[in-house]
Amino acid sequence: MIEIVALSDTMREVVRLAERVAVTDANVLVTGESGAGKDALARLIHARSPRASGALVKIDCAALPRELLEAEFFGYERGAFTGATDARPGRLEAAHGGTLVLDEIAYLPFDAQAKLLRVIEEREFERLGGRRTIKVDARLIALTNVDLDDAVKRRAFREDLFYRLNVVRLQVPPLRERREDIERLSGEFVNVYALKHGRDVTGMTPEALAILKVYEFPGNVRELANTIERAVIVAGAPVIQAADLPEALRAAVLIQKRAKQRQTLSELEADYIGETLAATRGNKTEAARLLGISRKNLYEKLARYKDRG
Ligand SMILES: Nc1ncnc2c1ncn2[C@@H]1O[C@H](COP(=O)(O)OP(=O)(O)OP(=O)(O)O)[C@@H](O)[C@H]1O
Ligand SMILES: [Mg+2]
Repeated sequence: MIEIVALSDTMREVVRLAERVAVTDANVLVTGESGAGKDALARLIHARSPRASGALVKIDCAALPRELLEAEFFGYERGAFTGATDARPGRLEAAHGGTLVLDEIAYLPFDAQAKLLRVIEEREFERLGGRRTIKVDARLIALTNVDLDDAVKRRAFREDLFYRLNVVRLQVPPLRERREDIERLSGEFVNVYALKHGRDVTGMTPEALAILKVYEFPGNVRELANTIERAVIVAGAPVIQAADLPEALRAAVLIQKRAKQRQTLSELEADYIGETLAATRGNKTEAARLLGISRKNLYEKLARYKDRG
């Protein structure tokens, strides 16, 4: 795991806010696309908080079916359900004195949402099948890559719980909106994966970096990390080449570039025609002759440009 990289203005601002909220006990809602760095930010908040020496516990609300999730979350007493041969504390208890990260909070079932609200308001709960009320002191950080406001509107998520979790909201921007971070992230990942795979790779060519800098990265930082890991493995030299990047990625960048060039060409044509017309003081017959096209063709082109505005 590497130090969080935040060279871009947008990411620097997010980290600055995270550090400010970290020292408080406020609940935090972290939003952002998949792979953008929500977990990374949650770890940073915990590490910079007075609870840093306490536990950092995570529960993924999307990973388990409802019954299992509640058992995992609240723990259970012996005999709470078939198979509960022993009592077990849940993640909530494990997070006592520390931080509890609720990953994919939008998937928390409705019943569990009510229970969580009680945990926030009363700081207490019971294990499944238990009568003993247990006190708990944990800082909550909820993560989501779906629009929770929308889930509230659709009544899929309790509004009261939403307000309790959304005391401070941090929005991790997608990687394509902070390309300034790509070079440093890439460098860090090269070191990490060279070490992991015992490869003598120390960097990449400017061409390889240029490709990474224009790629869209729908999978965000995670996709960048995977891309570099693969490149480190396949690289036949100490420096990663453009050819070491996945074919699909290079193709995507090419298509993007060509699309841009096509636009530039037609713009170029429009500019050139405009200049020629200016030179002939609007004489279209003369302009067409100079451009080597028919008068009809020139009129068609002009009409097309006019349509496009
Ligand atoms: N700013 C950053 N600096 C350094 N590493 C980062 C940064 N952001 C993300 N990472 C790394 O990228 C990977 C993906 O990030 P993370 O797991 O935090 O994403 P996520 O938003 O939680 O994704 P998901 O929604 O899929 O759970 C992790 O290995 C993380 O450590
Ligand atoms: Mg995550």
